[in-house]
Amino acid sequence: MRRKLIAGNWKMNMFKEDGLNLVRQILSHVEGQKLPFDVLVCPPFTLLSDVCHAVNGKVFVGSQDVSVVSEFGAFTGDVSAKMVADIGAEYAIVGHSERRAGRGDTDAIVQEKAFNTIEAGLIPVICVGETLEEREAGKALDIVSAQVRGSLPKNVNGTVVIAYEPVWAIGTGKIPTLEDVAQMHNTIRAVLTEMLGPDTADQMRILYGGSVKPGNAKELLAVSNVDGALIGGASLKADDFWAIAATQL
Ligand code: 13P
Repeated sequence: MRRKLIAGNWKMNMFKEDGLNLVRQILSHVEGQKLPFDVLVCPPFTLLSDVCHAVNGKVFVGSQDVSVVSEFGAFTGDVSAKMVADIGAEYAIVGHSERRAGRGDTDAIVQEKAFNTIEAGLIPVICVGETLEEREAGKALDIVSAQVRGSLPKNVNGTVVIAYEPVWAIGTGKIPTLEDVAQMHNTIRAVLTEMLGPDTADQMRILYGGSVKPGNAKELLAVSNVDGALIGGASLKADDFWAIAATQL
């Protein structure tokens, strides 16, 4: 049985005090509870260390990206997966569409980042998803299958997480039909099974992301092979983030 993962991607938001307040409010729901799901928050790099200290292991913490380079060196502005692991985080998002489209992350780069993430002892959340043009052209399943094939590193294991985020659903308030979500998640599971065999593939969690809100979370999270949510905008408000998580209580 896969444990659901409720993950917040804060993107480039939050000064220190607001971020720590948000985390404290999330902790108030988590502390003393035996939750039937995992909670993950992914703050910007500036807050990663403070948030790790604040949560003290009670929720998981992840970065929103890692460097494609794994060793120390002259790479101004980069932060390696090992550095993220060193401050106590457990996860790292790689291949988010905002980095694929806006920062030139190809499948090969995402694969390298995911490889380094696993080598550092972190769990990668590997993001995939089609654009509106690709969906309208009937190519969504092929595009996403190819992204999964191209982005999975060779050291992949059952803890690795895939996040299906249709680009056109991110920040737009639009979501695919539940049938389309089921079809995509089933397809991703089939690709994983073909690549890795059923034992590993069955352990891997496949998240849905893109305009997940308190009002649609329950139905989305009930879809076949949807093992959690990657939440952007609604993860910035503790009440909304927790309302989404609480649909799984
Ligand atoms: P929204 O929830 O704001 O649509 O963002 C989704 C996302 O990109 C999470 O990584």
